[in-house]
Amino acid sequence: MPEDTRTQPGPLALPGPWSMVAAGYSATTRQFLQTFSEAGLARLDFDHETQVIDIACGPGTTALHLAPFVSHITCVDFSTAMLDELRNAAASDGVANLEICEADGQDLPFEAGRFDVAISMFGLMFFPDRQRGFSEIHRVLKPDGQALVSSWAPVDRSPLTQLVMAALQPEGASLPPPPRPSGLELRDTFSQEMISAGFSDVDIRAVTRALDVSSPEQFWQDTVAGIAPVALMKNSMSEDEWASVEALAVKRTAERLGSWPTTLTSTAWIATARK
Ligand SMILES: C[S@@+](CC[C@H](N)C(=O)[O-])C[C@H]1O[C@@H](n2cnc3c(N)ncnc32)[C@H](O)[C@@H]1O
Repeated sequence: MPEDTRTQPGPLALPGPWSMVAAGYSATTRQFLQTFSEAGLARLDFDHETQVIDIACGPGTTALHLAPFVSHITCVDFSTAMLDELRNAAASDGVANLEICEADGQDLPFEAGRFDVAISMFGLMFFPDRQRGFSEIHRVLKPDGQALVSSWAPVDRSPLTQLVMAALQPEGASLPPPPRPSGLELRDTFSQEMISAGFSDVDIRAVTRALDVSSPEQFWQDTVAGIAPVALMKNSMSEDEWASVEALAVKRTAERLGSWPTTLTSTAWIATARK
């Protein structure tokens, strides 16, 4: 029996926070995350016959980039606003081989064995029942189909996340909380969960990418608009409370990084596997 990996559903297990940041995510976060998608896609085989499913697709970070090179992509997400961003971007880019489906990635409304490639970049990592998410990916793949799944590596490998956490610490708390790797942040757990779902040839690699940052103010504007946990934090405060938290975060960011423009890196685990 595989270990039970279900977690208590937190706020990011619901569509609301993702819909709240959909426009900002599409405008800013998407460009940075696309650099990880490109690294993952470079390890897959596909051509103009390939049928793809992108689970927890967001505004189409991976799908819009991949669409010209494959036959068809089914894009699944549970956030209506994220899917609206994708629909608008596909229309303005003239991408016609996408189908948009509002559904929970833990319960895919597709028959078994339908897709050649199944992708979940920074999506399945948020599912309260990840094992169910992996099993659903496995179920909808054709025999020998390919999976591509990513998650963030532990915080100690992400100066970007460390900076955000430290800048948002309440005043008087001298150190950010210690990194607490959980779930797919642990590479062995990631690998074990894929194997338990029935995958073979599981290959998980660290990929580091740099975000260009032009100024502390711009960095925080983009972070609040496009990063769901930070938007949730803002939403839990009064306007005045948030104004002082954000002003302190901008000041700490400027002090910590010194000169601008600069770059901040983050490391992800990117897994490929076969059914
Ligand atoms: C960090 S974004 C990643 C989006 C995109 N894959 C990318 O690489 O930029 C996480 C996405 O997962 C979606 N999501 C989270 N839990 C989900 C679930 N249970 N079912 C479907 N979508 C989910 C959110 O709505 C959001 O669009």
